[in-house]
Amino acid sequence: MFGTIWGYALGAFGILALVPFVALARRAAPRGTAWSRGARLVDGDGAAIKANDIPVGGVTTVFPEGHVAAAESATLLIRLEEGLLLSEPGREGWAPGGNVAYSKICTHAGCPVAVYNHLYYQLYCPCHQSVFDVLQGAKPLSGPATRALPQLALDIDGQGYLVARGDYTEPVGPDRWSRPS
Ligand code: FES
Repeated sequence: MFGTIWGYALGAFGILALVPFVALARRAAPRGTAWSRGARLVDGDGAAIKANDIPVGGVTTVFPEGHVAAAESATLLIRLEEGLLLSEPGREGWAPGGNVAYSKICTHAGCPVAVYNHLYYQLYCPCHQSVFDVLQGAKPLSGPATRALPQLALDIDGQGYLVARGDYTEPVGPDRWSRPS
């Protein structure tokens, strides 16, 4: 049953989505992303997402409005039951309505984190099997990743759409991407 659940979640993300991220991992280090204060979260078709659009237990890949091709900005939007998230100090209010967002780029080697298991609230990277705890700031639970997936601070605008409060406050992807070359 465990394997079946992982399998369904992977299908929802799309296995073909792995390719651009692997290519990105071989490229020069990105410095910052296209997220900015007030940028709406949009899906791969550019459609803006409201706070109640994702059902509890659901997950989708989002980008900043106008930047759906910005691979380094790819973010996982997960809808949790309200009150379950154990917010890190200083991150209170970053997940309005149970919507929490983490970078989709694995902090180990840059593959896309491509599977979500809502029973265990875990994200899984298929490249080398790192597992991240969604309820505790996406900290790594097992596998080779040693750093949590960065969290994107969210808000809800006056029309009910999810927006970013700014760019990520820490580098996305593997640490080697953010080292000076
Ligand atoms: S790239 Fe994710 S575990 Fe290696």
